[in-house]
Amino acid sequence: MRSPRVSVAPPRREAGRQSLILDVDTGIDDMLALLYAAGHPDVDLVAVTTVAGNVGVDDVVCNTLGVLELAGAGHVEVAAGAAGPIARTLCTTPETHGPHGLGHAVVDPVGTVSGRSAVTLLLEEARARPGEITLVTMGPLTNLAAAVLAEPNLPLLLKDVWVMGGTFTGAGNVAPRVEWNIHVDPEAARTVFHQWSTATERGATPITVMGLDVTETSQFHARDLVAVAEAAGIGTIGGTDKEVMAAPLGNPVLDLVRDALRFYFEFHEEYDGFYGAHVHDPFVVGAALDPTLVEVRSTVVDVDLGGGHTDGETVADWRGHVDKPVNAFVALSGDGPKFIARLRAVLAELACRVTA
Ligand code: BDR
Ligand code: CA
Repeated sequence: MRSPRVSVAPPRREAGRQSLILDVDTGIDDMLALLYAAGHPDVDLVAVTTVAGNVGVDDVVCNTLGVLELAGAGHVEVAAGAAGPIARTLCTTPETHGPHGLGHAVVDPVGTVSGRSAVTLLLEEARARPGEITLVTMGPLTNLAAAVLAEPNLPLLLKDVWVMGGTFTGAGNVAPRVEWNIHVDPEAARTVFHQWSTATERGATPITVMGLDVTETSQFHARDLVAVAEAAGIGTIGGTDKEVMAAPLGNPVLDLVRDALRFYFEFHEEYDGFYGAHVHDPFVVGAALDPTLVEVRSTVVDVDLGGGHTDGETVADWRGHVDKPVNAFVALSGDGPKFIARLRAVLAELACRVTA
């Protein structure tokens, strides 16, 4: 029996400076998201929390510290988070992100990890600045699940939460309808959506979820790197796409991007049929900063835990079958090309600032 559900309008999100915490499993596209946030003039990057996913958490911490240092954001606190999912054995994805997470790139082991755990950091920062912080998650939801179980008011303490995860109208990248971040820790994802259903009744903002069907509109190609290098004054680069991706640029930011993306491009060439890459995670940061990049609809999201090929599937209840409060704004479409233009501009700016 269906009940009519009143749709919820997304909050009015003012343009301007935003305080962000990023929860990452760095990861090639997480790395781009870190560079985007570090280089974006409107971002106050409060901290970065890490979680096992694409690679083990030690590699995630090392990559995150190294990328931030290289981007001139070495002062940003980086906290170690969950080393594995709530109830499952960790699976990583070296075929997608390389043996240590950054493809063909390596970053120097620099910086010091915070004395606070990811969960402690999230809770302390949210309590210290209620209603101010936007959290963007780009890996499995293990840290957020632990944090919201420890503090059920966390959804009310955060200004907003944006999640890269799931797929709602399109195909999955792990199973027919299952996306990687949710697949790694589906119990955590389910916990998060359930907790948010309870919290929205008390006034919390539903989570905004960008699934693969939207983030895959954000594609980076060799020509984008050429454009970034030209905008950064590094000169004109010629040749085939593969020659472009193999030629050192002599700039620390752009060579990191080039070496990491070359691996991602090779993966996409093999599995998706094009020499380029879907850059999921930075698009979610871009949309958190400018929600006009996506069109969203309110709904109730749950996660299937039934085993088999739907295990980890994100299910959105579009027709009011489920008698639960709205817990999510699901992105239905997004302007990936517009975001890529912004990513190019921020990378060029950062490359100008950070020279060898
Ligand atoms: C997500 O999975 C990871 O491999 C990426 O970093 C991204 O967060 C896409 O499914
Ligand atoms: Ca990620």
